[in-house]
Amino acid sequence: MIMDHFSYKNGTLFCEKVSLKEIAQDVGTPFYCYSSAHLKEQFLAYKRGFGSRKHLICFAVKSNSNLAVLACLGALGAGADIVSGGELYRALKAGIPANRIVYSGVGKTEEEMAYALESGIAMFNVESMEEMKLLSNVAKKMNTQAPIAFRVNPDVDPKTHPYISTGLKENKFGLFMDQALDAYNMAYKDPHLLIRGIDCHIGSQIVEIEPFIHAFKRLKRLIAKIEENGIRLSFIDLGGGLGISYREETPPTPENYISAITKEAGDLSQTIIVEPGRSICGNAGVLVTKILYTKENDTKKFYIVDAGMNDLGRPSLYDAYHEIRPVEHVDSQKVQEADVVGPICETGDFLARSRPLPELESGALLAVLSAGAYGFTMSSNYNSRPRVPEVMVSEDKFYVVRKRESWKDLVALESIPQGGLC
Ligand code: LLP
Repeated sequence: MIMDHFSYKNGTLFCEKVSLKEIAQDVGTPFYCYSSAHLKEQFLAYKRGFGSRKHLICFAVKSNSNLAVLACLGALGAGADIVSGGELYRALKAGIPANRIVYSGVGKTEEEMAYALESGIAMFNVESMEEMKLLSNVAKKMNTQAPIAFRVNPDVDPKTHPYISTGLKENKFGLFMDQALDAYNMAYKDPHLLIRGIDCHIGSQIVEIEPFIHAFKRLKRLIAKIEENGIRLSFIDLGGGLGISYREETPPTPENYISAITKEAGDLSQTIIVEPGRSICGNAGVLVTKILYTKENDTKKFYIVDAGMNDLGRPSLYDAYHEIRPVEHVDSQKVQEADVVGPICETGDFLARSRPLPELESGALLAVLSAGAYGFTMSSNYNSRPRVPEVMVSEDKFYVVRKRESWKDLVALESIPQGGLC
């Protein structure tokens, strides 16, 4: 299994010591299920990689923002990488201290800036000169200083899916290297900005160490130039992006990746920040779904399941591969290719296409693996489908950490104008 804490016991798939079938009986399907042991292990692997070097591991909240997940990591010492006021609200609510929070994102609003400043976050990763000016104004109005880093775009190819590569010149992210020095010099003179660091993030699902080191080398040259101008940096934020195994990928472990980074850091004295998301929670979670119907024609077999692209969007959006396993082992020798499709009225609504699977009947449960990152967080109510519950397992116990939405929830914020308008 590509997932350490999911395994078959007597023919049934378990998360740690809890059977997924038992959870399904309790909460119904579909649902997301996360292993707390996996979250903990991955986080601690990052920590071990740093050894005695000063560091801060800011979990990328966008990958999985459930409060229980954030609280679990926060209790182990994690900070948070946030990209919105909503994510800041969640991180604080989960007990992550503000001074361990960094704020990334190309489009921060004035309101979000004020909220983050008031909360006392560690730093804003600023992505444009206009953003810098607005942040300075907000800080001025609040009679304070905004702690900042500039996100620079190192123009490094992370060799990943084009939609999730962010560190190339043609991507919208960060300041270009040649503009960064001027930006630092300007910010240095601004009494409402406090320069704290430098930041980059080159992409996601990166399965080699080399692009990270390449970007770090470029950053180091820039750091030297910035410091020549008398500006001291306390943080070097290298972003997130370490990949996981969905299929046959063999990414470095968090420990090996961090060791390579700390080696490259040499005698730099700054605190190193990383912003991992997927590598911590991706293989902590599965999406469990039930086969509603099977159907077959002369060219295709379909398993129509109760989870769709609104619940797990990655296959439709990126053509991403997620391994699918029956929750209950079937003895059938007959393996045949099938499409696992959802109930949504779109051809793009699939979880897997032409996938070799054993012969299964309606009512059977399937586990869609490696769904702990960018699974629930990217889900929607499309087709007015209530979002599914999230369950967290810890050894032999499970906890519903987000309830299934109801039909009533779907319309809770809507209203029909008095008398109707039509
Ligand atoms: N920091 C920044 C500034 C980011 O933009 C991201 C992810 C991360 C950290 C975390 O990256 P990770 O360690 O998870 O690779 N929805 C896509 C992934 C989008 C990633 C966006 N940025 C997917 O499902 O593959």
